[in-house]
Parts: sequence; C-alpha cells; structure tokens
Amino acid sequence: MKESVRLQYLAAMGIDVWVPRHQSVREQVSAEVVGCASQTEAYQGDMVEFQTAVTPILASTEVAGDHKHDLTSLTAPARDALAPVTQHAKVYTDDQAWKGLQQQVSLCRACSLCETRTQTVFGVGNKHASWMLIGEAPGRDEDLQGEPFVGRAGQLLNEMIRAIGLQREQVYIANMLKCRPPNNRDPQAGEVEACHEFLTRQIGLIQPKIILAVGRIAAQNLLNTTQPLAKLRGHQHSLENTPLVVVHHPAYLLRSLSEKAKAWEDLQFAWSVYQSLES
Ligand code: URA
Repeated sequence: MKESVRLQYLAAMGIDVWVPRHQSVREQVSAEVVGCASQTEAYQGDMVEFQTAVTPILASTEVAGDHKHDLTSLTAPARDALAPVTQHAKVYTDDQAWKGLQQQVSLCRACSLCETRTQTVFGVGNKHASWMLIGEAPGRDEDLQGEPFVGRAGQLLNEMIRAIGLQREQVYIANMLKCRPPNNRDPQAGEVEACHEFLTRQIGLIQPKIILAVGRIAAQNLLNTTQPLAKLRGHQHSLENTPLVVVHHPAYLLRSLSEKAKAWEDLQFAWSVYQSLES
C-alpha cells in the first residue's frame, strides 16, 4: 500500500501518524508480503498427519453417546476427524484438514444457536497468515453473508488492518462463535465452550505469529478472565502458545469516535510485539 494512502486511512481514523524509527512502513509491508510468499511455499510441500492436524473435535460428545452431529453427510476427512485417534492411518494435506473442519462447523448443532442462524460463519483470509484476528461472534450482516466482519464494524476493522500496513487478505479473521447470537446478545458460556475446539483447530492449522483479540468479550473469553479491557490492552498475553494482544472492537469505536486514538495505540503495541518476535 502506498504510504500516502496509508496516511489517508490514518487521517480518516483521526489518528496521529506513527512510524517505527528503525524501519519504514513500506519496508515492513514488503517484508510481510515476502514472508507470506515463503510461508506459502513451505506449506505447499507440507503434509500433515491427520492424527495430529485434525483432533477429533467431537470425540468427547461421541463417547458420551451424544450424537449432536449428522455423521452420514460428512466428507471422508471430516468423518475421520470424528473417529478414534487410532484409526487415523491416513495422511491428509492441510487443505483437506481445512475442508473437513469447515464441514464440521457448517453441520454443527452443538448449541441452540444452530436453530436461529442463517448459516455458520467459519473464517476468512490467508490460511498461512502471520496475523490472526479473533472477534466475538457474527452479527446480522455476517450471518447473512457467511463471512466475519463484513458490516460497518468490519469496514473499520479493515481500516485498522490497513493502518498497520496489511491488507484484509493477508490476515486471517475468525470469531469465537461461528453462529450469530439472536439480536447480537453477548455469547453465553456454553456457546463459547461448544465452539472452542473449532477455534483451537483453526489456530493450530494457521499457526499465526500473533493473535489480536478484537474487543472485550473476545479478550475475556479467550483469556478466561473478567478483567476489563482497560487492564487487558497494552499487555502481551498468550493463547495456544501464541502471543496475543487485545485491541478495541471497531463497533465500540464506531460508538465512541473519541476512542479511536486508543485503537491506534493498541495497534502500535501489537506491531511492536510482532516486531519483537521477528528480532
Ligand atoms: N463483531 C464481531 O465480533 N465479529 C463479527 O464478525 C462482526 C461483528
């Protein structure tokens, strides 16, 4: 992205310009793009054992005799993911693991949100991304379109991503919940629990270098804490052995425009954490 365009985005967000002393943003962006390309090459030759790449999400519910998922309509990789680990003799590619996981999500009936959803909202973006953003749950637009962060908040999230020199397509975006809670109410503990393994599997397949928890609800649930956002932001946390940084939710920023400067601080902090991982 051109520097002039980036500056326009920042101006649109009402944010002061910040440039790291030791490296220009342009250099950082091209380094990120090159990183993506080399990661992709590395992944292409990479075969993973299904046993490790695809943990049987529903094994526990199966053992309990609780058949909440329709196994008959699953593809082979998805069906194998549900089988006991000892039966995983086959070797699958990441691609097959993704397909199996996406199918399991689309058929999931583990909580009552399946009754009211239009469709599941799996996740979108670069499956080898260095940056993974995790929001709370799909809203109305996301439920209709089947993609996370596509409404007004999504547009501002895109601006936030661009503000750190990345494109939406370069990162991976997912939500804690894959189904919309009615009237956008807060997710309930049981719903978060039911979806947890799907998110863990996504993180395992992507293996991002850094995770951004987008908003208070995502941050508190992912970090299993009741601390307020003000306490959680500005610190490096960890999820699945991956550094995690908490950022303001764009929907909150749309309601409180004066808080945009704080969002920029969050992004600056996330960028500095990312930089520290590289060195
Ligand atoms: N808010 C979220 O947390 N996720 C979305 O996908 C949309 C809005």
